Amino acid sequence: METLDKEKLAGAQAQMPRHVAIIMDGNGRWAKARGLPRAVGHRMGVEAVRRTVRAGIELGIEYLTLYAFSSENWSRPMAEIDDLMGLMKRFIRGDLAELHQSGVRIQVIGDRANVDTELLALMDEARDLTRANTAITLVIAFNYGSRREIAGAARRLAERALNGEIVAADITPEMLSAELDTKGVPDPELLIRTSGELRLSNFLLWQAAYTEFVFLDAFWPDFGRELLVQAVSEYASRSRRFGGLSHRSRA
Ligand code: FPP
Repeated sequence: METLDKEKLAGAQAQMPRHVAIIMDGNGRWAKARGLPRAVGHRMGVEAVRRTVRAGIELGIEYLTLYAFSSENWSRPMAEIDDLMGLMKRFIRGDLAELHQSGVRIQVIGDRANVDTELLALMDEARDLTRANTAITLVIAFNYGSRREIAGAARRLAERALNGEIVAADITPEMLSAELDTKGVPDPELLIRTSGELRLSNFLLWQAAYTEFVFLDAFWPDFGRELLVQAVSEYASRSRRFGGLSHRSRA
């Protein structure tokens, strides 16, 4: 480990976020800058996913949520959608054994509708095989959109109120949280977005109420351990600045 890393990590260790969520942005621009097809950018993006999971385990991060396919991504050309679906299948087929061996627990959040049955079966297999693992929980957000997720939770609470199971006037934020796809997953303390874009893009809107955001200029295929450490260090320094008055201490 380099000295710089050690210093950065020493500061970060005391305030290591339990849950880091990442908007993996910039695959296309990474490829374009090199005169390569967008598909190559996505392929290199998978390499960055591998590096990030390994680094997450090493740093002791408990939950890592990756925005792999948003509900808005359906508006991309069909060839690119097929490419992303294919990459996800290959990732699970090719990496599942090693992820399992490394103690990775895999969960998938998002809408199962419109996702092809072969991919759904692979996601279920990954979830079932890794259910008891404890090194890190990798939450893959696939066909995920926060507004749909929140609307679904509201709908289920409304149905339960209509059935007389609960009283509408007694609905609490915790009850809504428990109806989200992320049920059982703590809210992220840190959210990273790569590629210099400064938006949340319908990602974890409810869960990010108290989250610290770190925006990086690097494109996702260049992401890895070093940038993760940088983002965690930035998070830790903000946390130290607010000390005991940090809003996180209330969570
Ligand atoms: C954003 O780059 C990235 C995506 C829409 C897909 C992210 C998917 C991967 C990194 C690969 C699959 C994931 C896993 C977990 C195996 P962009 O295409 O929007 O880039 P651009 O904004 O530069 O065009």
